[in-house]
Amino acid sequence: MKRLLVLHGPNLNLLGTREPEVYGAVSLPDVDRSLREHGRRRGVVIDCRQSNLEGELVTWLQGAEREGYGGVVFNPGAFTHYSIALRDAVAAIRVPVVEVHLSNIHGREEFRRHSVIAAVSRGQISGFGPESYVLGVDALLTLNSASQPARAAAPARRSRRARKGPRARRE
Ligand code: DQA
Repeated sequence: MKRLLVLHGPNLNLLGTREPEVYGAVSLPDVDRSLREHGRRRGVVIDCRQSNLEGELVTWLQGAEREGYGGVVFNPGAFTHYSIALRDAVAAIRVPVVEVHLSNIHGREEFRRHSVIAAVSRGQISGFGPESYVLGVDALLTLNSASQPARAAAPARRSRRARKGPRARRE
């Protein structure tokens, strides 16, 4: 996995000034900068995009594999709670998607406690501020290394005799 895509949904462009008591004081460009920096340390290129438009997020999800991304860290914002179009896009693609939230959506208003995206994502990380994105990146990298068998675990080469099978008994 060489490249990861981070997608931010609606209103996340206002990070830093939007309800700072809920979402913190760090701006979106600063979140993206430290994510890219984290990626460099882990040996992956991280591209970050934000959109207030549902259709644009659908298009980016659909294109993720074609564009060469090995995984997506996705904060769908308010779309989390009702966008069947985004849910279907996540379900339709082969690239693993980790859903992330700055705030702990399970400790907030009732309408935020349900995510229509969660069931089709590889998992959900919620409540760690900008660190949620970093954890999302690390989750994708862990998934990726788990799917590649470690060399030491590869089965030992079988001897020629074992490969040929039992010798026919001479009468
Ligand atoms: C959010 C939580 C959503 O409920 C909200 O609509 C957002 C941000 C979060 O990151 O905590 O826009 O996704």
